[in-house]
Amino acid sequence: LHVVVLMGGPANEREVSLMSGKGVADALEGLGHRVTRIDLGRDVAARLAQAAPDVVFNALHGVPGEDGTVQGMMDLMGIPYTHSGMVTSVIAIDKELTKQALVPHGIPMPGGHVVRSESLFAGDPLPRPYVLKPVNEGSSVGVAIVMEDSNCGNPIRRDAAGPWQQFDELLAEPYIRGRELTAAVMGSGDDARALLVTELVPKSGFYDFTAKYTDGMTQHVCPADIPDSITRLCQQFALAAHRKLGCRGVSRSDFRWDDSQGEDGLFLLETNTQPGMTPLSLVPEQALACGISYPELVEIIIEDALN
Ligand code: DAL
Ligand code: MG
Repeated sequence: LHVVVLMGGPANEREVSLMSGKGVADALEGLGHRVTRIDLGRDVAARLAQAAPDVVFNALHGVPGEDGTVQGMMDLMGIPYTHSGMVTSVIAIDKELTKQALVPHGIPMPGGHVVRSESLFAGDPLPRPYVLKPVNEGSSVGVAIVMEDSNCGNPIRRDAAGPWQQFDELLAEPYIRGRELTAAVMGSGDDARALLVTELVPKSGFYDFTAKYTDGMTQHVCPADIPDSITRLCQQFALAAHRKLGCRGVSRSDFRWDDSQGEDGLFLLETNTQPGMTPLSLVPEQALACGISYPELVEIIIEDALN
């Protein structure tokens, strides 16, 4: 096959996407496919038309690329592509829209609401501790946890470093103490199935951008050493989210679990429709633990796109 691997672009997660894209493109070449690597830019439609691939492997993360824009363009061009389609991507990239889509189906997600960043200088939007995050970024870009004793002041000071300086609006959610879990789902429609549950244990602080992409900074426990009932709930919620959102190919749902609250302490934070494919990424790791090598995973995702 002739496969275009779409990567990079202007997103805040550009560097992560370039790592995912390189891993995928190298694997595809190793499998004997013809590969064209395209760094997302304004001329992407012209470059895709010129390349005329059999399929596009979408290795983009964040906005644009994970948000439905690129998917809609490829729909118009009639080019098959991996991962979720346009409508699913539009909803899943937005953590607030995702809540509106999933909570009515019984999938527990944290409460909270979107606030104007400006309003944070007048007072806390929620009782501390709470989390502030952009509605549509990935890899913990722009995430701040405001603890009881955070030294950014109460209310937050205008000059305190934080995402309120960069983003006009932020999602404020209660901070869930406890543990960080993630569950991947592979396949589309009725064939979708959950892989494993991984616990992320950062060596210090929280599972932020640095902890995610610096080798040795986070311990990945796969399968997670948690009660079977919590494993099953994570898999059930991840699969339900994948199906309700209409995800294709692969997705990964991230959770917080307050282990002092048992099953009631489990909350889905978001579903990633373009989960990372870097060497430190979680989906390839879970696939491997299920006996699926990285090249096999890439091939399965490609086949899913062509079905
Ligand atoms: N946003 C990153 C790439 C992930 O979900 O893995
Ligand atoms: Mg994410």
